[in-house]
Amino acid sequence: MSASESGNIESVLHETRVFPPPAEFTPRVSFKTEEEYEQAWQHAKDNPAEFWGELAQENLTWFEPFTSTMSGEMPETKWFEGGKINASYQCLDRHIEAGHGNKAAIIWEGEPGDTRVLRYQDLHREVCRFANVLKRMGIEAGDRITIYMPMVPELAIAMLACARIGATHSIIFGGFSADAVADRNNDAEAKLVITADAGWRRGKEVPLKIAVDESLERSPTVEKVIVYQRTGADVTMVPDRDYWWHELMENESADCPAASLDSEHPLFILYTSGSTGKPKGVMHTTAGYMLGAQMTTKWVFDLSPEDTYWCTADIGWITGHSYIVYGPLANGATTMMYEGAPNWPDEGRFWELVEKYRVTLFYTAPTAIRAFMKWGDQFPQKADLSSLRLLGTVGEPINPKAWMWYHTVIGGERCPIVDTWWQTETGGIMISPLPGITPTKPGSCTKPLPGVVPAIVDESGQEVGDNQGGLLVMTQPWPHMLRTLYGDHERFVDTYFSKIDGCYFAGDGARKDEDGYYWVMGRVDDVLNVSGHRLSTMEVESALVSHEQVTEAAVVGFPHELKGEGICCFVTAKDGGSEELKKELTQHVRKQIGAIATPDQIRFAAALPKTRSGKIMRRLLRDIAAGRESAGDTTTLEDFTVLAKLRETED
Ligand code: WT7
Repeated sequence: MSASESGNIESVLHETRVFPPPAEFTPRVSFKTEEEYEQAWQHAKDNPAEFWGELAQENLTWFEPFTSTMSGEMPETKWFEGGKINASYQCLDRHIEAGHGNKAAIIWEGEPGDTRVLRYQDLHREVCRFANVLKRMGIEAGDRITIYMPMVPELAIAMLACARIGATHSIIFGGFSADAVADRNNDAEAKLVITADAGWRRGKEVPLKIAVDESLERSPTVEKVIVYQRTGADVTMVPDRDYWWHELMENESADCPAASLDSEHPLFILYTSGSTGKPKGVMHTTAGYMLGAQMTTKWVFDLSPEDTYWCTADIGWITGHSYIVYGPLANGATTMMYEGAPNWPDEGRFWELVEKYRVTLFYTAPTAIRAFMKWGDQFPQKADLSSLRLLGTVGEPINPKAWMWYHTVIGGERCPIVDTWWQTETGGIMISPLPGITPTKPGSCTKPLPGVVPAIVDESGQEVGDNQGGLLVMTQPWPHMLRTLYGDHERFVDTYFSKIDGCYFAGDGARKDEDGYYWVMGRVDDVLNVSGHRLSTMEVESALVSHEQVTEAAVVGFPHELKGEGICCFVTAKDGGSEELKKELTQHVRKQIGAIATPDQIRFAAALPKTRSGKIMRRLLRDIAAGRESAGDTTTLEDFTVLAKLRETED
């Protein structure tokens, strides 16, 4: 268990407060009572095929009905086979056919303050036109497309256009570097890249096209690039390779029937960090993912057509895929998108947006909540937040102090908080309170949703008792789980299904209390959670050792007040190291991976502490990074003096 986790566990272990569902909150669309939930959960556990089969029939629009709900053992379970479906139809056409074409689908605000509202009709038209553009570019069902864009409506349009013709999108968060884009282009064998000139962040332009140009120097599979003009930044357009979005869209027809696709047709690939240096291309398929996104959005956020729902994530992460685009749109709701930073032009921006658009449901990350706390209550207090009726969090364990602040200052003590535990791999929320029903405990994601059957087990797969820490696993398959890692099915089986027999192992440690509430403690592998973003220590290490001055590097996490976990790099350098080299290495890591991997600390050491068998003693390094005296047994240390020297390197 890493350093920050133990810090977090400490505060959470003493947490005994229970908050009953607020009396003001009446669920509109989801479960109405605790008993109703318990019954549904038990039914889904005993009869998953019946439970999911009925939901799929009632909630998804099928071009051809499925013939089997689920078949095959985990991890090879297939869902809704025989069925034909289309995700963009599910998100758009059926709402228009039901007469809701005039309803706002996306309310967007750019960082400079420009705004757009796209009704379902508008979004449908743009998606169809862009789908025709893709076809004209030679894109066919099954082709992979990289999307590397700022938070503009065209990002959602591009995704849905891919889905409409059966192309598989692979979205890369704009904070990743050119090198990271190239790696992902190559792994997915992407044929086309969709990007923008740049995006806005804290008043500055974040260049994207320039990074794409650089990535294409070593992305042989990419044939063409479509560039959306967002900021007007200066870009170079390569003839016969680069095309302007607006030029391609001119005169393009808005008539594009949604392709009839198999339930298991790949909808998207999303790269995430594992415990090795190579990112994993998590693949989700159409029907199962859509059902999960749609149902969990409805259950957890109680999302109804009257709501204005705002998830502050970037669409480049799974949270944005499932809870900005696919989930809310499948429910015919109004989803908000904001392009820029929360502290631009000042720290009150989010709350101004809540007031301006009368946001009712608000979903963000603990790292953001901690930043809001630090900025001060005066910012939220300046705004009228009375429209809010529910708050959500995701991405990392929330410390009770941040939970209480969220509850009091943002929620006015009247909004239930849903602390949602899930992962890129799970496709949708797995463990979460149901609003207005589940009593909440600050720091606990409470209970599994219907259809989700977790357990806490030890290394041998035995279930452990109440309040005993262990590994969080899933004992049954669910429709929205990942199907494979793109191009590496063996790694998929090995990563998730080989540790605990017959179970999906998520990578997290957790405990379950006497009320059946889950308390997730954090990753038990070499994955860091930095501001709710996943990063592998090995990824950062390989970036460091690729620098000519570095002979060896070890990267560990340490508790960070705002980020949850910070990145600490122990480096042995050829020339011993200098302030100059620190700066250089920081830039080097940013270039290799992206700004999200910027090291918080770089410490030079003559050698790294190792066991006699040559393994780096990470536990010890974590203690040093956290400034703790090491309680662990160090008798296997190769060289005791290494430890003393490392302590001296403290910044
Ligand atoms: C990891 C997954 C799922 C969307 C955002 C991150 C941690 C996520 C919680 C939560 C405690 C959480 C876990 C998980 N995590 N939500 N509510 N409480 N931990 O997706 O990048 O795939 O990361 O985030 O450690 O394994 P991701």
